[in-house]
Formats: sequence, C-alpha cells, structure tokens
Amino acid sequence: MTAKPNQTSIVVGIETSCDETAVAFVRGRELLSDVVASSVDEHARFGGVVPEVASRAHVEALAATLASAREQAGLEWSDVDAIAVTAGPGLVGALLVGVSAAQGLALALQRPLYGVNHLAAHVAVDRLVHGELPQPAVALLVSGGHTSLLRVDDVTADVTPLGQTLDDAAGEAFDKVARLLGLPFPGGPAIDVQARDGDRASIDFPRGLTHPGDADQHRHDFSFSGVKTAVSRWIRAREQAGEPVVVADVAASFQEAVVDVLSAKAIRACRDEGIEHLIVGGGVAANSRLRALVEQRADAHGIEVRIPPPRLCTDNGAMVASLGAALVERGRPTSNLGLPADSSLPVTEITLR
Ligand code: KG4
Ligand code: ZN
Repeated sequence: MTAKPNQTSIVVGIETSCDETAVAFVRGRELLSDVVASSVDEHARFGGVVPEVASRAHVEALAATLASAREQAGLEWSDVDAIAVTAGPGLVGALLVGVSAAQGLALALQRPLYGVNHLAAHVAVDRLVHGELPQPAVALLVSGGHTSLLRVDDVTADVTPLGQTLDDAAGEAFDKVARLLGLPFPGGPAIDVQARDGDRASIDFPRGLTHPGDADQHRHDFSFSGVKTAVSRWIRAREQAGEPVVVADVAASFQEAVVDVLSAKAIRACRDEGIEHLIVGGGVAANSRLRALVEQRADAHGIEVRIPPPRLCTDNGAMVASLGAALVERGRPTSNLGLPADSSLPVTEITLR
C-alpha cells in the first residue's frame, strides 16, 4: 500500500524502543497530541533499563496511551492517513510491542505503515518546532544508547555518519557517573540539576579523543569511558584521603568535560563539511549546559542551531510521527505489513521494509 504524497496527512507515531511508551499524532508538521508513559521508576532500583521489565510495561501501557493520544488530538481512528512506528534500533522485545500494535492498526484501518529509524526520528522531530529541516545539516545525536555526528542531506533518505562514540554513549556516561555520585537513575537530569550549584572549573576531567593526534583518525569520533573512569578514580582517592566529595562540583566538572567535547566536535564537523546548520537531538540534548554551550560556539562561527525543547529531546512519539509525516510528504516507500524489528538498525536505514 502506498500513501499519496501530502503535506497535511494525519500520522500517528508509536515509540517503544526503550522505557518510554509514547504515542503522538501530527497533521503534516503540526503536533496534535503527544502522550508519554514512562516505566523509568520501575528500572530505577536496578540503576538501568531492564529489557524484560520494559517490554511488559509497554504491553500494559500501550493501549491506554494510544487511546489518550487519539482523544487529545480530537480525532477518530478513521481520520488517520498513515501509521509510523520505531522499528529500531532499541531493545528488541520492547520494539516488538510497538511494531505489533502498529501492524494491527495498519491492518484494521487499511492504512500504510512506516517502520522508522529511532535515530533519524530524533533529528526529524525538530520539523514540528522550527519548520522544515535545513538541507544539508549536521546533526549531533546524543542519547542513552548512541552518540554520533551525522551529515543529513535528507532525513527521509540520505543520512551519512561522520563519527560516533568508540565506547560509551554520552547519556550512558551521565547515567554511570550519576550512580558513582549516588544520584538517581536516569542520571542525566540529576547531574544537570546538581551541576547548576557546582563549579565546572573545579576539576579538570579528561576530554576524550581531543589530542592533536586524534584530529586525523578520530576527528569526528567520541570516547567517554576515560572521563567516567577518571571520575571514579577521583572519588575513590578523595574518600581514601578522608576528604569530602562535593557532588555539585564533580557533577559540574564532569558535565563540562562531556559537553565541551560534544559542542566543539559538532561545530568542527559543520566547518569541515561547509555546512551552516546544526541540529541537536536525543535525550542528552535536554542538558541545559550543552544547549547553552552549543548556542554560544555556533554563534561565534555563524552556524544556525536548532535544538527542540527538552521534552522533545528525550524519547517521545512526536519524533516518530514527524519522521512518518516527512516520509509521506516525500512519497517514500512504505513498509510491509510483516515488518520486523531490528535492534541494531543502522542510522543509514531510515525505514525498514
Ligand atoms: O533519547 P533518550 O530519551 O533515550 C535513548 O534513545 O537512549 O536518551 C536518554 C538519555 C539518558 O542517558 C539520560 O540520562 C539522558 O538521555 N538525559 C540527559 C538529560 N536528560 C536526559 N543527559 C544529560 N542532561 C539531561 N538534562
Ligand atoms: Zn532516543
């Protein structure tokens, strides 16, 4: 089944790749409703997302989330023109809950189905806020599972990886360091809050892959395992010496080390590619210091930055609906009703057939 290219198509977006059960409706680039049910509290005591717990939570929450998003949008199911769902990357059991629901909807409503890439969706969500994406653009994608720099010539068809993390994702580093500091999961928001009262220049934590020697081979790549280890060693040394660990200072200094590298490399990628537009997306894009530093550095180089509001940076259904609507608008091929889920879907595959 194909969808007629249309700028005002009503698309429902379903996201279940990790711990958020999320559904949103869009009409073209207009967000009509956006409902997120998170199972984060159920994972907090484990200090990370437990896949089995996440899958069960999606099964329990999805029907009610679909119903409330539809109601808030003031639509009937028959109004829907197309269905978009995250098909990967993510936790396979979690993805399958959303994909199965989307298949059921597509079958019942006889509407086209788009299995979309979660990473591309983190970029595409900005269409709903700041209008059609500039092309080409560089995207800095920073989430709990991924950290990469992308060249985006067309978010529906042409995304080229420029670099990525060689070890931990930025969000993962925030979560692990928060744990070392005794802060709750997820660690990113907790560190962001603590850091506001801390001195970011108090501890000089390492900036991964920023030595002159890295400028060739790993120019656009990242590494965050070194800073995480440095924080762990620093805390242990303090404790062994019987000296206090000022959580706010450690949080601020760690956060500065991470966002310094992210922002510097994003700007450098724009300059290398001769591109004047930078889009920042993913959960870590909600970080207040990253947002400020990227804006400041981009400004200094005449680069236009787009960062969606924090609520649309962390996982949500609007991002999936937005990418779905862009695919409909460009007349891109739909997915098969037997669409699988792919837990390691590469960012270059924007839809899964
Ligand atoms: O994109 P996302 O919601 O889920 C994935 O696709 O992974 O990103 C979640 C990650 C978590 O690691 C969380 O700690 C981080 O985003 N995060 C933040 C902030 N808010 C969420 N990291 C730093 N500062 C924040 N304010
Ligand atoms: Zn995400």
